[in-house]
Amino acid sequence: MSDQTTKVRAAVVGLGWPGIQHLKGYIADPRSEVVAVCDLDKGHARSVAKEYKVSRVYTDHLKMLENDDIDAVSVCLPNFLHAPISMDVLNAGKHVLCEKPPARSAQEALAMAEAAHQNGRTLMYALVQRFDGSTQRLKQLVRAGELGEIYFGKAGYVRRRGIPVGKEGWFVDKERSGGGALIDIGVHALDCVWWLMNSPRPVEVMGTSYAHFKHLVPDDIRYDVDDATFAQIRFENGATIILETTWALNLPGDNYIKVAGTKAGATLSPFTLYTEEDGRELDKPLDAPSINGFDEEVKHFVECIVDGTEPISSAQQGIMLMQMLDGIYESAQKGRSVPIADLSVATG
Ligand SMILES: NC(=O)c1ccc[n+]([C@@H]2O[C@H](COP(=O)([O-])OP(=O)(O)OC[C@H]3O[C@@H](n4cnc5c(N)ncnc54)[C@H](O)[C@@H]3O)[C@@H](O)[C@H]2O)c1
Repeated sequence: MSDQTTKVRAAVVGLGWPGIQHLKGYIADPRSEVVAVCDLDKGHARSVAKEYKVSRVYTDHLKMLENDDIDAVSVCLPNFLHAPISMDVLNAGKHVLCEKPPARSAQEALAMAEAAHQNGRTLMYALVQRFDGSTQRLKQLVRAGELGEIYFGKAGYVRRRGIPVGKEGWFVDKERSGGGALIDIGVHALDCVWWLMNSPRPVEVMGTSYAHFKHLVPDDIRYDVDDATFAQIRFENGATIILETTWALNLPGDNYIKVAGTKAGATLSPFTLYTEEDGRELDKPLDAPSINGFDEEVKHFVECIVDGTEPISSAQQGIMLMQMLDGIYESAQKGRSVPIADLSVATG
C-alpha cells in the first residue's frame, strides 16, 4: 500500500462471473478501490471497466504487474492459471486473492505458498462458502464450544444436471481444470465442512469417481473428468468427512452441510442446532445474518492486508485442501484407500 492512501489498490484478472463478484466486493469496501482490470478479451475488459468506472484495462497480466500502484490482485482465471499467474503476482510483490480450487494439485498449491512466504505477501483462497451468513454464525458456535468435539461431517454439492464448460471447454479438460465435479464444486462443500470442523489434518482417503454424462457436452469438446465423485476422509484427530458431489446424477439436486459433535450437531439448511435438554432431543432453529459471501470474502482479504493478519483460508489450508482432492482422485484411480502425507511444515 502507498504512503499517500490507506486504501488497498486492487486489480482483478479474469473477468468471468466470479471476477465481477470480486470487483463488486472491492468497490463495496471503503478500504479498497479497483485500479485495473485484465482479461484476454479486450472488448469485454473495456466494457467491464466502463461499467464499474475502472481507469486501466490490460490484456497482459505481466504488463499490469509492472505498476507500483497495485497492492493486491484477484486471480479469477481458469484453474490451470491459478498457480503460474498467482506466483507472477506474488513475485511482483503484490497480495493475491485466488479463486477456488486453490490449484490443480497440492504440488501447485505448495509452490504458491512458498512464493507467498518468500515474498512476504498474503495468499488467500476465495472459498466463498466460509463467508456465508449461516456458515459464519455456525463457526461462532463451534468456536464457543457449543457442539463439543466435532467428529463427523457430511457435505454434498449435488447437481442433477449442470456441467460447466467455460471458455474453450477448460472446465471439462483435466489438463486445464485438474478434474471435474470434485475440484469444481465438491471443493466448496468439502472446504466448508472441513473448516467448520476446525480444519483437522487429513491422513487417509477413499474415493470413487464416475463419468457417465459426456453426451451432455458438445462432441468437439475434450471431456476427461469426473461428473460424480464420492469420498470418505479420515483425519489425524479421528474425525470423518463423507462427501458427495456431482455435476450430473439421476437424483434430485442437493446441497447440504452437516456437522456432529459430542455436545450437539448442526445443519446449514435447515439452519438448525440438534441438541438435548433434560435428556430430550431438541431442535433449535438458528438465525443467520443476511450478508453477501463475496463481499465478506473480499472484505476479509482487505482486512488481512491492512492488519497484516493471516486469512482464514490461508495458503497452508489451500495445500491441505488440495491434498484431500488429490487423494480422492488417486484413490478413485487406484481402487483403494490412499494415505495423505504431512506437508504442513513445508512453508515454515
Ligand atoms: N466462487 C465461485 O462461486 C466460482 C464460480 C464460478 C467459477 N469460479 C472459479 O473462478 C475461476 C474462473 O472461472 P470462470 O467461470 O470465470 O471461467 P470462464 O472461462 O467463464 O472465464 C475466465 C475469464 O478469464 C479470462 N482469461 C483466461 N485466460 C486469461 C489470461 N491469461 N489473462 C487474462 N484473462 C484471462 C477469459 O477471457 C475469461 O473472461 C475458476 O477457477 C473457477 O473455478 C468460482
